[in-house]
Amino acid sequence: MKRKLLFVTSEAYPLIKTGGLADVSSSLPIALHALGQEVRLLMPGYGPALAAGHFEPVKVLHEAQGIAILEGVLPGSEVPVWLLTHEQYFARSGNPYLGPDGRPWPDNAERFALLCHVAVEIAMDRLGLGWKPDLVHCNDWQTGLIPALLGDEPGRPATVFTIHNLAYQGIFPHGTFLRLRLPVRFWSPQALEFYGQLSFIKGGLAFADRLNTVSPTYAKEIQTKEFGYGLEGLLTHRRDRLNGILNGIDQEAWNPATDPLIPVNFDSRSVERRAFNKAFLQKSFGLTPDGDRFLLAWVGRLVQQKGIDLVIELLPKLIQWPVQLAIVGSGEARYEQILTQWTRLYPDRIALKLGYDEPNAHLVEAGADLFLMPSRFEPCGLNQMYSQRYGAVPLVRRVGGLADTVEDADPAHLSAGTATGIVFEEASASALERAILRALALYQDRASWRSLQRAGMGKDFSWQRSARCYLELYDRALHDRANADGLLRKVVRP
Ligand code: ADP
Ligand code: GLC
Repeated sequence: MKRKLLFVTSEAYPLIKTGGLADVSSSLPIALHALGQEVRLLMPGYGPALAAGHFEPVKVLHEAQGIAILEGVLPGSEVPVWLLTHEQYFARSGNPYLGPDGRPWPDNAERFALLCHVAVEIAMDRLGLGWKPDLVHCNDWQTGLIPALLGDEPGRPATVFTIHNLAYQGIFPHGTFLRLRLPVRFWSPQALEFYGQLSFIKGGLAFADRLNTVSPTYAKEIQTKEFGYGLEGLLTHRRDRLNGILNGIDQEAWNPATDPLIPVNFDSRSVERRAFNKAFLQKSFGLTPDGDRFLLAWVGRLVQQKGIDLVIELLPKLIQWPVQLAIVGSGEARYEQILTQWTRLYPDRIALKLGYDEPNAHLVEAGADLFLMPSRFEPCGLNQMYSQRYGAVPLVRRVGGLADTVEDADPAHLSAGTATGIVFEEASASALERAILRALALYQDRASWRSLQRAGMGKDFSWQRSARCYLELYDRALHDRANADGLLRKVVRP
């Protein structure tokens, strides 16, 4: 069955990316398109996004304010994309959510409320674009108002809301609720009110026909106080509408056998060729060139969620071990500063590339021995999958998608040849220490290490399977919607 799907997101690779949401927002629509679905993307027309593709205006909504819909395709694919432009809201450079001071743009509520209103108009085919979706797939808080606003529209499409990260909720003061002129009935704990504030994400969680998150374990975790950020009650209440679908990865962009961003290509039969990449990585990061030195790596946001503070806490001990550390990342200023100080103290042992750096992210995956992901929570996580594919053995905490994608090198998995990484439990520097020492010991036994690498490289993390799960989810949402419609018709016409 061909479904018409409107996929609404605040970022999509390669138009703009701050994290995994952008990867998913391009890979999933591309996979759905390949499965014969009619999928279209809607996202804000940020300056960098406009520059990254070829887009033509198809609808002018407000000439003076530069509000328009431009049409193009996701570069490198046939998936149609609509970009919503707004001179004041979106034509700025830099991070889509944060200003140069690292704080959220002060008009974020207005910016993403506009995205939601326009999505509703498209969903109801009121903009003269001549296309009405069967289902709107919303992602994260920036799109949360869509299911709420669509709620009462007669003949509306079905809605699915995906939680990529529950820690970001789009919370604003009551004054913002008034300023946005949202319907008064939404000011209730059953709707958008969250302890006296406006919550964008609640619009998705409370109103979407179906909810999902990006791994089965995270779907369970967010129903608990520890991971629910105050929304565990609502999520538990809707648990029969909530499931977890593991993200896939773009296995073409992340293929060590063909990756143009790495010096030497390799596959699971030629893992030893990684040694060239390791040497190149050490050289270009200014680390002592030494093929035997255990090379630890990090690629990702330098924030508490990812457990960078645990790594920092461990550095005084770590520096005494025979290891090196290569970091590619950006994030909170305090972590960037401390890490910079450490690299000044030990330039040949600890290296840091600050900023968003795609080529070095690939190089690290292709050359490092151990990939660190000691996340406090991790809805899915993509890097542990990239690193398994590249033979950089992941060391992860047993949370969320990390628990679902990495097999610990315990005796049972090791002897079965299914171990792919090191998994540890507690979010503490001492637990991380024990895990790294365990990895270091395993590394000494090169045959076991190779077996870990090969098992990881042989895993299938393709989108095909996940995209089929999304099709099932869409069908359930369409079914719920059709049922609700039927009920409504019965009530209205006795
Ligand atoms: P999250 O979305 O929570 O940041 P994910 O693991 O889902 O975590 O996705 C992160 C994505 O962003 C990956 O594709 C990763 O390679 C990329 N990434 C993160 N930080 C950087 C960086 N500094 N340079 C290059 N790529 C990065
Ligand atoms: C979020 C999560 C990450 C997930 C990504 C894509 O950014 O933090 O774990 O992989 O979304 O779903």
